[in-house]
Amino acid sequence: MGQLAEPLPSTVSDEQQKQDNTTPTKEATTSEKIQLHIDEVTLKFPTSTGTDFTALDKVSMEVRENEFAVIVGPSGCGKSSLLYLTAGLNSPTDGEIKVAGKVVDGPGAERGMVFQSYTLFPWLTVSENIEFGLKQKKMPAPERKKIVQKYLKEVGLESFADRNPKQLSGGMKQRVAIARSLANDPEILLMDEPFGALDSQTRMQMQQLLLQVWEHSKKTVVFVTHDIDEAIMLGDRVFVMGARPGRIQKVLDVNIPHPRTLDMVMEPDFISLKREILSLLHDDLTEMH
Ligand SMILES: Nc1ncnc2c1ncn2[C@@H]1O[C@H](COP(=O)(O)OP(=O)(O)OP(=O)(O)O)[C@@H](O)[C@H]1O
Ligand SMILES: [Mg+2]
Repeated sequence: MGQLAEPLPSTVSDEQQKQDNTTPTKEATTSEKIQLHIDEVTLKFPTSTGTDFTALDKVSMEVRENEFAVIVGPSGCGKSSLLYLTAGLNSPTDGEIKVAGKVVDGPGAERGMVFQSYTLFPWLTVSENIEFGLKQKKMPAPERKKIVQKYLKEVGLESFADRNPKQLSGGMKQRVAIARSLANDPEILLMDEPFGALDSQTRMQMQQLLLQVWEHSKKTVVFVTHDIDEAIMLGDRVFVMGARPGRIQKVLDVNIPHPRTLDMVMEPDFISLKREILSLLHDDLTEMH
């Protein structure tokens, strides 16, 4: 099988988006209900010297239902650790995490996770990958097919339904991973640098696609990134972490209207927020040295 050209996701043009007042806005979709409570979470790892290493120190944060929360911070500050704890893949040394009011005490289908590395099942087709969680839940076949179709369309991969993951580009694989997570109808979607391995153009396409999908699905998202432009483009709020020990330094509102478009990176509000985040990260790095 030859190399497949990646079809452009079905993003709406800037002009169409400006005219389309049926697209739900942030104000219309974000509720005041808290979907994720992280309460004074500490995470320690044992070391060979006998003293524990504190990866996260009394981290508290709250994410509202339907909110798109982004976490940025220096390498090693505990961003992935925080997501893994929320996913239930690890347990905090101290503190508590609740999703939709329930204490997290292990992995669960109500918390979807998309990683930077590609995690599709290579022996299943695109459709079968998206269908996987629904089969586990023993959902009847006709209902499964409907949901798979819906999400194939949402991520622009209808014509790739029967392909195997190895026939897909990186961006397409991550679109399948997003569709697979959303098909399970999670209470929260946890994304750890999902676009980190993509080239910058595909990455920007994926950001636009994710924003569209988020506006349709109204999911609560916690998204980790190193990329400050990506954080501002996607987020309702940006949680800036500091390192040694890992902690939340500051929470910033992104008061940039939806729908967000690529040209917004040049706007003064975008640039001043970027400057503020960079300065927080810079101060933290300076303190470390
Ligand atoms: N299983 C482990 N055992 C010991 N230390 C660990 C373990 N997992 C993570 N750490 C340490 O905890 C800290 C936080 O790691 P984590 O992977 O959460 O950082 P991160 O912010 O996601 O970094 P990056 O931006 O590089 O992905 C790091 O110092 C790391 O070395
Ligand atoms: Mg990480």
